Amino acid sequence: MNRILVLTSGGDAPGMNAAVRAVVRRALYAGLEVWGARRGYWGLVNWDVLPMDASSVADIVHRGGTILHTGRCEPFLQPDVQTRVAERLRREGVDGVVVIGGDGSLRGALALEARGVPAVGVPGTIDNDLHGTERTIGFDSAINTVVQAIDKIRDTATAHERTFVVEVMGRHAGFIALHAGLADGAESIILPEVGFDANSVVERLRRGRERGKLYSIIVVAEGAASGYDVARRLAEFGIEARVTVLGHVQRGGSPSAYDRWLAARLGAAAVDALVAGRHRVMVGVRGETVVETPLEEVVAGRPAIDRSIWELAQVLSS
Ligand code: ADP
Ligand code: F6P
Repeated sequence: MNRILVLTSGGDAPGMNAAVRAVVRRALYAGLEVWGARRGYWGLVNWDVLPMDASSVADIVHRGGTILHTGRCEPFLQPDVQTRVAERLRREGVDGVVVIGGDGSLRGALALEARGVPAVGVPGTIDNDLHGTERTIGFDSAINTVVQAIDKIRDTATAHERTFVVEVMGRHAGFIALHAGLADGAESIILPEVGFDANSVVERLRRGRERGKLYSIIVVAEGAASGYDVARRLAEFGIEARVTVLGHVQRGGSPSAYDRWLAARLGAAAVDALVAGRHRVMVGVRGETVVETPLEEVVAGRPAIDRSIWELAQVLSS
């Protein structure tokens, strides 16, 4: 193993830069040459690749976004393009690729593997929706951003004695809504994994009002319903609600200490795996332990939420 390549792909996540830094510095320490591809798989398709030395990743550990840029690259979905990319990687003497991204990006890593290019995945997405790791890089920062935003919304909700619906990201998964909602004591949390039952949300609001609670925060995951749809349903029951869609603010900002820690561990572990001849895996964490999981398992279906956490949130806010 002489030369490896790293790329960041799909939705950016706070901590991707820290992961790139860990890959580069760990690889250089092991005596490898490192290249970076710009804009995810676009960098491979258009061969937009740069050599990376130790100073190229200086002063980025605390920055959101990704210095390599990211992208969604439709052409890379085509098998003939994947074959062309694999041939180019071989021609250029790239012995292994580290892909930092979410499930789509890791499917791309599998496509490279299928064409003989050793690839290791690093989970980088705010959605936390991958098998093979308890946490993805970016999730902790995103839920902290959501919690800070809801704290502010709660101030104005309390002042005006209003109901607010806060829509959060997560694509098809409810992890962001569940964790931020529990942390913030939301009165209702609506998840795709549980479904949106307007009657039970209204019933909880009514019970709260009977107890003298004059404001409420409802957190809805985008995969379950839009914030505006929830507000429309509440209006049918005579409940007026303001809507806040937090949107891409959840993807930005300086990564949390946990995400930087995770990125350092996983970026380095991805290089260690390649050097040891292990690939076609994603590196992840169970508690503080780094684990490797076959990429096929990582992208097979979606991890389930722990329903007991949702039930706990209901209990604590009732
Ligand atoms: P994420 O990695 O955040 O889930 P996407 O699902 O948008 O983001 O995927 C990012 C990129 O990964 C896509 O634009 C494409 O280039 C590549 N990709 C996604 N799915 C596949 C697939 N099935 N095969 C090969 N490449 C894929
Ligand atoms: O996968 C990360 C994510 O932020 C999802 O939570 C969200 O649904 C999606 O990306 C948004 O994608 P885009 O940046 O293309 O709007």
